[in-house]
Amino acid sequence: MATLGQAREALRNAKTIVCFSGAGISAESGIPTYRDGMTGLWAGQSAQQMETAKAFRQNPQLIWGWYLWRRQHVARAQPNAAHRSLSQLIRRERPIPIITQNIDDLHERAGSVDVVHLHGCLSSSKCFACHRPARVTPVPIQEEGALVEPPRCVHCNGRLRPGHVWYGEELPAGTWKSAVSLVKNCDVLLSIGTSGVVTPAASLPGIALSAGATVIHVNTADVSLDAANELMLIGKATEILTQLCSPLVIAGRAQ
Ligand code: APR
Repeated sequence: MATLGQAREALRNAKTIVCFSGAGISAESGIPTYRDGMTGLWAGQSAQQMETAKAFRQNPQLIWGWYLWRRQHVARAQPNAAHRSLSQLIRRERPIPIITQNIDDLHERAGSVDVVHLHGCLSSSKCFACHRPARVTPVPIQEEGALVEPPRCVHCNGRLRPGHVWYGEELPAGTWKSAVSLVKNCDVLLSIGTSGVVTPAASLPGIALSAGATVIHVNTADVSLDAANELMLIGKATEILTQLCSPLVIAGRAQ
């Protein structure tokens, strides 16, 4: 395990820093990670099973109800100290790009401006049949596991589905290319709260390492890849990022 001092040094010496975040950064805002157990009607299902076209075809009301519940849950959640620490670095220096796998908007609500959403956003919806984007006014969901009939597409009368990327689907055009280009050209990749099991996103730390960057992992579990240029910081994102980012802000050298 690396020390905070080693990680600070790597960040101080870096000309280009890129952040890469996963569900763990929003866990302390009360948003469950993908590997957390599901509750209510969803108990026994995994997020991976629910986020598929097959699951939607089989039970659109269950998937739409889950989607609306998640939108409502995220709308009520607040950015935490980890999101804020990253956004403060951005405010005081040139923006540090954040590549996120998260479909919530907590980085943006913390003030970050340069955020690449690899898997899209929870706020978007589209037609399951014709794929055209659609606007929905979310109805309040009182209980977890509520079954809700999806609204219909104004163009083709198909059912609306969540607009973000599901399992087995391609990432948005251009997004993956931008992410790869960012990590190939950074000196340090700060990777926070991701299990590193879902590809292609999971390959970004490896791409950064191959391009000669240092990868700093911040996670409650050891997710390092056993490479020489890695620094593994084990702990909660809020605690570690608060300590890791503030000296850089003071030194004014994070860019
Ligand atoms: N601070 C830091 N890390 C944390 C914290 C915390 N407070 N809480 C949990 N973690 C870590 C866990 O140890 C785990 O490694 O966050 C990680 C969360 O892993 P996942 O749930 O797998 O989330 P993520 O890696 O973002 O998932 C990737 O999988 O289902 C798909 O599309 C979905 O974007 C998602 C992708």
